[in-house]
Amino acid sequence: MEKRPHEHPFQAWADTLQDLGVMGLVRETLTLPALPALPVHVRPTEPSLHPVASRATSQPRPPLVQVPVTAALGSAYVIPDQPGARPSAETVAGAVNLADLEGCIQGCLACPLGPGRFRFVFGEGNPKARLMFIGEGPGKDEDQQGLPFVGKAGELLDKMIGAIGLTREQVYIANVVKCRPPDNRTPTSQEAQACLGYLRRQIELIDPAVIVTLGATPLRELLGVATGITKVRGTWQNLVAHRSIPVMPTFHPAYVLRQYTDDVRRAVWADLKAAKAWVDEHP
Ligand code: URA
Repeated sequence: MEKRPHEHPFQAWADTLQDLGVMGLVRETLTLPALPALPVHVRPTEPSLHPVASRATSQPRPPLVQVPVTAALGSAYVIPDQPGARPSAETVAGAVNLADLEGCIQGCLACPLGPGRFRFVFGEGNPKARLMFIGEGPGKDEDQQGLPFVGKAGELLDKMIGAIGLTREQVYIANVVKCRPPDNRTPTSQEAQACLGYLRRQIELIDPAVIVTLGATPLRELLGVATGITKVRGTWQNLVAHRSIPVMPTFHPAYVLRQYTDDVRRAVWADLKAAKAWVDEHP
């Protein structure tokens, strides 16, 4: 039998049931509700693997609800697909490990970066790393792969980590914001602050001996230090978290790539050695 093109998703469903002999639906008498407006695709050229990225955001939505289920079900919370939706602070604080935390927050739409992402970039590495690196936010490559520092800056970061005798798998790498800012711009403070509770819980769960911040953004947003990175890099800072964690600020690898001078490279090398020495002294 020749098939009609499916004008409506319900029609396809009805056809399938009819073909299977499950239901004697008469097509012509089927009353079909009007199709909703086409969804607004944030990036029409990229197939979305994330349900959030391909759904309409302009439709009226039901009120925000957080739906706790038991931790045994894996991803502990469902975040409704609507602007501003996020897990509560209690939910984030209650995440028992990194996988649990990622499950809680990966559907976040708390700030305007959420609807624009292709992939949520949670972070990666050793969940019990002694050394943690914190960058600014995902770029294009990171957004595509869902992993931090996998582009050009990431290649250099890998070399920096290797230079102090470690591998990417031994450290932990995260960012201030977990979703890509458009055109790789610096995240606004509002965006960074919306994401900061997630990073703080991540730090608590990893409990690193030392943190290396990369560039001005983590310094400003996580530590509240607004002085320029050129002045502050190489000077120990202190993060007040679940305990005091020493922080070594250094240049962002993307900056090092742009300013590939002996002075800049020497500075980064000195900062990394200082951080590694701290780790070795505090096993
Ligand atoms: N720059 C960052 O700050 N983070 C990344 O993950 C990649 C580039």
